[in-house]
Amino acid sequence: MATLTINGRPVTLEVADDMPLLWAIRDYVGLTGTKFGCGAGLCGACTVHVDGEATRSCITPVASADGKEITTIEGLSSAGDHPVQLAWVAEDAPQCGYCQSGQIMQAAALLADNPDPSDEDIDRAMKGNLCRCGTYNQIRAAIKHAAAAKMAGRDGEEVSA
Ligand code: FES
Ligand code: FES
Repeated sequence: MATLTINGRPVTLEVADDMPLLWAIRDYVGLTGTKFGCGAGLCGACTVHVDGEATRSCITPVASADGKEITTIEGLSSAGDHPVQLAWVAEDAPQCGYCQSGQIMQAAALLADNPDPSDEDIDRAMKGNLCRCGTYNQIRAAIKHAAAAKMAGRDGEEVSA
């Protein structure tokens, strides 16, 4: 059993301790925005925030998240208007979209730590998030867009996990 806070809501899960957090989020809580890709911590499709840290939920046992704050793509903002999400729309980042919730969660964590990342910072932070559609240039542009919006204070809210 594990008691987590998911997107601000306390959730008690009566599941095996070693169940991947990803399964708990998708199959028991019903939040399907977080995607399964490789199941081995290698692609980033399943990225959520655990206490603000970008975390691969496919290789995180639910028991290790007991008592922690989980944020999924559904909880990043109440209306889909987190600065990173707005930047993703402005830069037309997605193609098929499958990897994109993981990309957005990774980028939001990066910008929470580093509000003005260089190209090298972005490449380092995002290198584990794979995109079969090859949207890497758009993703980088969207991260820079979100960073610029935050620096200019145009989007009204802090970039945070
Ligand atoms: S599904 Fe978790 S890293 Fe690929
Ligand atoms: S947008 Fe298709 S896999 Fe990334």
